[in-house]
Amino acid sequence: MLITFEGIDGAGKSTQVKKLKKYLTENNHDVLVLREPGGTIVAEKIRDLLLENKHDITPIGELLLFSASRAELVQHTILPALEKRTVVILDRFYDSTTAYQGYGRGLDLDVLQSINAIASSGLVPDITFYLDISPEDALIRKFSEKSIPLAFEENELDRMENSGLGFYQRVRDGYMKLAEHNDRFVLLNACDDPQVLHHKIVKHIVSLFSANRTSTEI
Ligand code: TYD
Repeated sequence: MLITFEGIDGAGKSTQVKKLKKYLTENNHDVLVLREPGGTIVAEKIRDLLLENKHDITPIGELLLFSASRAELVQHTILPALEKRTVVILDRFYDSTTAYQGYGRGLDLDVLQSINAIASSGLVPDITFYLDISPEDALIRKFSEKSIPLAFEENELDRMENSGLGFYQRVRDGYMKLAEHNDRFVLLNACDDPQVLHHKIVKHIVSLFSANRTSTEI
């Protein structure tokens, strides 16, 4: 089973990923947590290129680098894990590309769809949790997470985070469109209490597992 988490930076995905991993592990599932970009030696190098502030990357270059990182992770790690019936929890997948490079950077959505399908070998998540938050609230969270004072220097944020509030608003709008048009999306309010969110997520996972009849213990 492939479970993905999506949302703009600062939405609190990693907290929910950790809680879900703990829950599934305690219920006797083999669980593998991965995040994009990264996860293999080559993909981690691509991650550095993408996030370091010193590089000026074109939108197309950015798209292809995120996609190259994804292709490495899917082929080397995700597909073999799924074959062993490991539950894979992925912090970002190609919906991030659609939201950030498509809606955020303005690249052609049909082209993106083809590249996403190639990079992910046609893999589609069983369920996608989208944590929705306004860019303003997300930025406040990010500042407190990184202990950045309000009078911050731009270079304390990574290259993507330096894209501005307008960019993040477009990304959020893109995610909302994806959530509207894809049944696998579960739309959640990222400002809910983390434990309340966790319970909602578990409820969806339990019904998905019982629908797939992959487990009787959960
Ligand atoms: P990361 O530090 O992992 O952010 P987060 O904790 O919010 O997931 O940085 C990944 C950044 O890359 C983030 O700003 C989202 C962006 N991104 C894209 O623009 N396109 C993509 O396809 C992916 C996977 C990530």
